[in-house]
Amino acid sequence: MGENAPEEIEKVLFDRSMIINRIDRIADDINRDYSGESVRLIVVLNGAKMFAEDLAKKLILNHSFDEIKVRSYTGTESNRMPTIVMDLKESVEGENVLIVEDLIDTGSTLKFLKEYLLKKNPKTLKLVSLMDKPSRREADIEIDYLGFEIPDHFVVGYGLDYNGRYRDLPFVGILKESVYKNQN
Ligand code: IMP
Ligand code: MG
Repeated sequence: MGENAPEEIEKVLFDRSMIINRIDRIADDINRDYSGESVRLIVVLNGAKMFAEDLAKKLILNHSFDEIKVRSYTGTESNRMPTIVMDLKESVEGENVLIVEDLIDTGSTLKFLKEYLLKKNPKTLKLVSLMDKPSRREADIEIDYLGFEIPDHFVVGYGLDYNGRYRDLPFVGILKESVYKNQN
């Protein structure tokens, strides 16, 4: 595991096969819970894109995609004031909305997003996140489907970036502190 990781990676946490195995289990739960229903997957850009694509491949439900882009991070620090920089293309009124997120950290992005989407009267609103960093939570967020709980380290790869880099890595790894120390 992690033989081809760049030197800026401290440690590989989840390689591609671990991620895909976990996604299989999550998809089983989602397929069971929404059986006979259709689902609108709302992908939180950019980080959750790879996760959403791999998850959707395992769904046997009618599903459609929309995307939303929320900015709350500069470097490795949340500014706790999320703003929408790209909005949904379609109405979610009466839809089973499933937010697809990469990682819940302080929770401020998802608290904001859930409140925003609830105002649009979906039939149901749930959240699936690949990762959770519970040690940093500030806002109370219920995660309906979760991939992995992780410790308080900045992670990159499998869609997650540091200032636009490392998204394309096929695994999730801890970024060395020396890469971002003195940069914020
Ligand atoms: P929150 O608002 O603090 O919960 O952070 C939300 C977003 O910040 C997540 O959806 C991620 O996209 C990003 N983020 C938080 N922690 C990390 C990390 O360790 N690596 C990369 N992105 C992160
Ligand atoms: Mg995100």
